[in-house]
Amino acid sequence: MTVVELIERKRDGGTLTPPEWHDLMSRYAAGEVPDYQIAALAMAVYFRGMDDGEIEALTSAMLDSGRMLDLSHLTVPRIDKHSTGGVGDKVSIVLAPLVASCGVAVPMMSGRGLGHTGGTLDKLESIPGFRTRLTLEEAARQVERLNCVLIGQTAEIAPADRRFYSLRDATSTVEAIPLIAASIMSKKLAEGLTGLVLDVKTGAGAFMTRLEDSLRLARTMIALGERRGCPTVALLTNMDSPLGVACGNAVEIIESIDVLKGGGPADLRELTLVQAAEMLALGGTVQSVAAGRARAEQALESGAALDKFRAIVGAQGGDPDVADAPERILPQAPIRSVVVAAEDGIVQRVEPRIIGRAITALGGGRTKVDDVVDPAVGFLVHARPGMAVRKGEPLATILARDASGESAARAALGRAITLGSFAPSPRALVSHRVTREGVEELPGAGAS
Ligand code: URA
Repeated sequence: MTVVELIERKRDGGTLTPPEWHDLMSRYAAGEVPDYQIAALAMAVYFRGMDDGEIEALTSAMLDSGRMLDLSHLTVPRIDKHSTGGVGDKVSIVLAPLVASCGVAVPMMSGRGLGHTGGTLDKLESIPGFRTRLTLEEAARQVERLNCVLIGQTAEIAPADRRFYSLRDATSTVEAIPLIAASIMSKKLAEGLTGLVLDVKTGAGAFMTRLEDSLRLARTMIALGERRGCPTVALLTNMDSPLGVACGNAVEIIESIDVLKGGGPADLRELTLVQAAEMLALGGTVQSVAAGRARAEQALESGAALDKFRAIVGAQGGDPDVADAPERILPQAPIRSVVVAAEDGIVQRVEPRIIGRAITALGGGRTKVDDVVDPAVGFLVHARPGMAVRKGEPLATILARDASGESAARAALGRAITLGSFAPSPRALVSHRVTREGVEELPGAGAS
């Protein structure tokens, strides 16, 4: 079969066999199939979809195009989490050291920000000296020593996905559930995990704006994990407004450290604890999710999670003092300017996409894969949906490099934050828990 014939078959609603997917992806990773043919195939998948067998085959094909992180000699469970991405989502930065401090190995592989969403790697790299590009061998040694490593996808991990994902980004074919599921799970399964927690975001700032799409994505990824012997739990969480207050790179590190010290915004702390509880329960170090939560709360209160963060930062080349004096160590924006409410009212919406794009416009995100990110810029978004504000009260603080960035950011905030006279009814922070057994609607989820 030629690649053209495979594209034709997909275009006409047919399916590709597992050997065809394997052959195609290994030839693509080897540079033997041009991007334009895979772009055409991605568009055919976007419109025609893939059946379960094809999604499984594509996942395996991308996984098998590279190496796996071998941690099978460890005696502790190996659990990771993955978020489908949003604005202000800095949970991983708190969660990884927190869970590692409770005796579970967390070999966390994260991504960079692209489009309107932020990336954990960019946030971590705002800590001077912090290295996220470790070899698989270095990563394995660090997990052995500290139970945790925070790295990016190496060239050896699922190289076919690496190439395919940037191509999809450039051809508007990212938002296809089978492709998202195969892409995420090929990387996560390469970590050699014994369990995985997925944070599937729904709402205005997420890939999936509709609950039914998030549920379909969650079920698809759970099936892929379970079939490969990796127990997988998904939580459906709200991304209708930014998570926490800080949105940007260095500011999100500061806010993460606040949570590690037992403080921080309530939504960020809650989402971190909910996910930590699931990870600890999956790891089997506690008897139940409730016990996992109690254990995680204790690790925040005792300082064990913060100590683990300090150790990880030091091991990866960053200044460990960032845990104690983040404002001194992290880069600061020269301009801090407060935006206030022009009238009395109730905050109706804080549009995450507008905030995310405004961070990119300030220089804190990228529009092209090789853009350099300014770690210091961003926002502190004080306004939250449902909050009553009086004229002159602060809605947000802009962290800008120069006056033109500040004025563009001010205009963006004017579009992002809307005031009205009625209290809106926001979606629950965590609305559903999905496992291989089924879907559980969580208390408060009906509020949307
Ligand atoms: N994140 C990924 O790694 N892959 C996707 O396709 C979408 C989000």
